[in-house]
Amino acid sequence: MTSKSQTKPGNRDAAGATDDKAQRVLIFDTTLRDGEQSPGASMTLDEKIQVAELLDEMGVDIIEAGFPIASNGDFEAVKKIADVVKNAVVCGLARASDKDIDRASEALKGARQSRIHTFISTSPVHMKHKLQMEPDAVLEAVVSSVARARNHTDNVEWSAEDGTRTDHDFLCRCVEAAIKAGATTINIPDTVGYTVPDEYAALIKMLMNRVANMDKAVISTHCHNDLGMAVANSLSAVVSGARQIECTINGIGERAGNAALEEVVMAINTRADVFPYYTGVDTTMIMQASRLVSAVSAFPVQYNKAIVGKNAFAHESGIHQDGMLKNNQTYEIMSPDSVGLKKSSLVMGKHSGRHAFREKLDELGYDLGDNAFMDAFQRFKDLADKKKHVYDDDIVALVDDEMALASEAIKMASLRVIAGSEGPAEATLTLDIEGREKTCTSTGDGPVDATFNGIKKLVPHAATLKLYQVQAVTEGTDAQAEVSVRLEEDGKTATGRGADTDTLVASAKAYVSALNKLKVRHEKNKPAKLRAS
Ligand code: KIV
Ligand code: ZN
Repeated sequence: MTSKSQTKPGNRDAAGATDDKAQRVLIFDTTLRDGEQSPGASMTLDEKIQVAELLDEMGVDIIEAGFPIASNGDFEAVKKIADVVKNAVVCGLARASDKDIDRASEALKGARQSRIHTFISTSPVHMKHKLQMEPDAVLEAVVSSVARARNHTDNVEWSAEDGTRTDHDFLCRCVEAAIKAGATTINIPDTVGYTVPDEYAALIKMLMNRVANMDKAVISTHCHNDLGMAVANSLSAVVSGARQIECTINGIGERAGNAALEEVVMAINTRADVFPYYTGVDTTMIMQASRLVSAVSAFPVQYNKAIVGKNAFAHESGIHQDGMLKNNQTYEIMSPDSVGLKKSSLVMGKHSGRHAFREKLDELGYDLGDNAFMDAFQRFKDLADKKKHVYDDDIVALVDDEMALASEAIKMASLRVIAGSEGPAEATLTLDIEGREKTCTSTGDGPVDATFNGIKKLVPHAATLKLYQVQAVTEGTDAQAEVSVRLEEDGKTATGRGADTDTLVASAKAYVSALNKLKVRHEKNKPAKLRAS
């Protein structure tokens, strides 16, 4: 397992050429253009700049920053991104029209390295119904648009929109003409996500075999995910000879999205045996990029999304957790740190086994003896049956309850309270503290205050009362009262409950119970008397 992609310094030049052409795959990110085009994913200018800077830092080769003719906002975004990007080539999209191409060039003026990406549809269905142009007119537009772009820059990409549904002879003629007119990258988009890996690979091979000047340009893939094959198709094309992959962070894009950057990059990294290539992407920045794009596009990442989903490095089943604890290669083909995650997570739930529970207790600082462990494990299983997610706090509360119950260092022995409309309330309280009875008298602003002051006198502590709640469990004046008390000390909280027909006795029991738990929590890292065994 590698923790980074095999980045080689200085392996990119202004035209996107590499010093190791045979193995280097260029990553062309179109999150800010095709990704931003997906319904509901639009980003503000500042957000686009943030994304572009991160893509640049992570080593993306080409950043397609937008479609400058589309709106003034898009133009401004491409212009600003062109100004701030330091290493990557900044690219602007343009249809096969002089106005589009000139506008893209204008927006890219400030870029250290720029590319104009011009496209036109070549499939019969697009030419007839969308463009309403004859093939020969399309071919002419290919030549004139590429030549126009070449007047602005020597880095020109030409795309055959709907390339995978284009007649092969016509596609060969267009590609050859585009290269002759000066295109340095030829993109064959699977615009509607229709192709399959073998077919797409064969299409790339066909172009390499039949287009006489194909070796003068880099072949690019641009796959949509309508049938869920965008990544597989892109990689298949690379095996056939393509050396640029167009993709987006989190796979966002038109309809079902584009090939996901994190998936193509990690597939190349992880399966070097079948994909003997490398990219310039620092894979340890993948999670950061995914979170940023998800936040600014307001597109949540599905839990089971490959590489960046919440569950991609999470294990819940007892068998898997046991395997992971023995050796993480049992159930992980990539290390979490290779994509910028600190560690895998063992999700505690009803499928978790003893091994994982013991490990979790260890992580939380508990070391229970065998009997206490088995009791806690049983209670954990009961809780997991009722609750979808068992969080660390649930486990802490569960074990603290277990330990407090087992230890009960402080017990309520007796309580007598004098209260009424005259004077302060007075409580005479006896507590059993680790086997010895202690009594005191205390006053307070009302009977509850007097009682709690008494507890504080007998067991001095710095905890503050955060919650006091009384609930009648049954009806009538002899109703059983249930009291909840929450105490906090040094950032730790504990909740205790007490029930009695006398509300004041229930209150004292609840306070004492919370205090027992707090003491357990404070002393759990020491082999204290309060520890359960
Ligand atoms: O999907 C597509 O064909 C495109 C082109 C503009 C490259 O996005
Ligand atoms: Zn697209």
